[in-house]
Amino acid sequence: MKADWVSDVLSGNRDHKSVELKGWVHRTRGNKNIRFVVLRDSTGSVQCVVKRDVLGDEAFENAASALIESSMIVRGEVVPTDRQHGHEIQVESIEIIGPVDPERPFPITESAMESADSGETEFLLDQRHLYLRTSRMTTMLKIRSSVFGAIHGYFRDLDFIEYQAPNFVAGAVEGGSTLFEVPYFGRTAYLTQSWQLYAEAAMPALERLYTIAPSFRAEKSRTRRHLTEFWHAEMEIAWGSNDEVMAHGESLVRRIAKDLLDDRSDELQSIDRDLNLIARYADNPYPRMRYDEAVETLQGMGVEIEWGQDLDYSKEKILTKDFDVPHFLTHYPKIAKPFYHRVDPDDGNYVLCHDLLAPEGYGEIIGGGERTWSEEEILKRIDEEGTPRDPYQFYIDVRTYGGVPHGGFGLGVDRVCAWLAGADHIREVIPFPRDSRRVTP
Ligand code: 4AD
Ligand code: MG
Repeated sequence: MKADWVSDVLSGNRDHKSVELKGWVHRTRGNKNIRFVVLRDSTGSVQCVVKRDVLGDEAFENAASALIESSMIVRGEVVPTDRQHGHEIQVESIEIIGPVDPERPFPITESAMESADSGETEFLLDQRHLYLRTSRMTTMLKIRSSVFGAIHGYFRDLDFIEYQAPNFVAGAVEGGSTLFEVPYFGRTAYLTQSWQLYAEAAMPALERLYTIAPSFRAEKSRTRRHLTEFWHAEMEIAWGSNDEVMAHGESLVRRIAKDLLDDRSDELQSIDRDLNLIARYADNPYPRMRYDEAVETLQGMGVEIEWGQDLDYSKEKILTKDFDVPHFLTHYPKIAKPFYHRVDPDDGNYVLCHDLLAPEGYGEIIGGGERTWSEEEILKRIDEEGTPRDPYQFYIDVRTYGGVPHGGFGLGVDRVCAWLAGADHIREVIPFPRDSRRVTP
């Protein structure tokens, strides 16, 4: 276990006291008689001042030999200073625990890290397991953890039940083109695209349910917002309308923004994120706009789009660039959406659904809506799509035995993290990103 954390030192409540810190060498410089070792642990980093005349020749030489990312235990006194962070350690002893071989130095150098900001180099993706230790990635992982915490907090505060669905499934939810096939003992199974259909089966039992789980999509094209394995926060409620489901989506996203402001302001500022934006997303309502209005807006901007197309990233990017807060788009054309979306009883060309589009050009972060809930209608919709009924028999049965109006949504957790952190690319916010070209490390 650890006696002291770097954050204890930085907080000021160990001033002039002796501490024992355990961590890794972040940086080191100095001369023959004095070394400045910046020691990092999971809570921050602090400069340790190592002097030959304090440690003696042998211990000083040993400490001076420690290369970047060596692990060590440092004992010494905390001294307030005017310099960076306001605290440093006057070192009394250093014990190297895991030395780094000078023949094989830590491969991620300062200059490689600069380009890491854009997340672009293949080299850094190859070194992802080591890249996790950099301050930018550590910051992203802490923000990510708070986003997960906020989602659990939101649903649990409202007495939702956390419920798990299988990941091996027999049929598509979101269309066949992004299905991952898995050989399954002489048959073909698929990796799930969404928890939704199995959540609907539990809806008559639990009425309010949610999950945070991986979903899988065989997305061939590599974009800034698509992963092949992403983390999906989904919810389903019995007796819920499209409007009621949207209200939950809005409250959830505002809760995430608020929790980040409360818990991660320092981290957000350290990556130059404007806290005023996050406060705006936490404090303001999210407007609703019909799909038709969005298409007209885009056409007015000179974008080529035909009525009936789902909006792809390029179009959402243009549409959301000048949004000041997230906007809901509702009432998509029936032909743009899968069979489970309930047809609008007022106009059969549309479905009662919504996407939530994040501003700053980020685009879709939520997809949801009301479900086709009568047996007669679901059979009609499945047949219309030319989908075999067989894999969906369990889904049809939910309607056969006491079907009720219900609905839900799915939120792309990685997308929300990327947006709120202001990341250029979705892979900046997930430890080991998966896309069509990469399953390693
Ligand atoms: O809009 P989608 O496809 O909706 C569903 O899967 C519904 N069955 C959810 C439901 O109603 N329970 O996906 C939901 C969200 C998207 O808005 C997006 O944020 C995220 O999941 N998403 C992805 N995130 C990263 N990479 C991908 N390839 C993603 N595909 C979808
Ligand atoms: Mg969608």
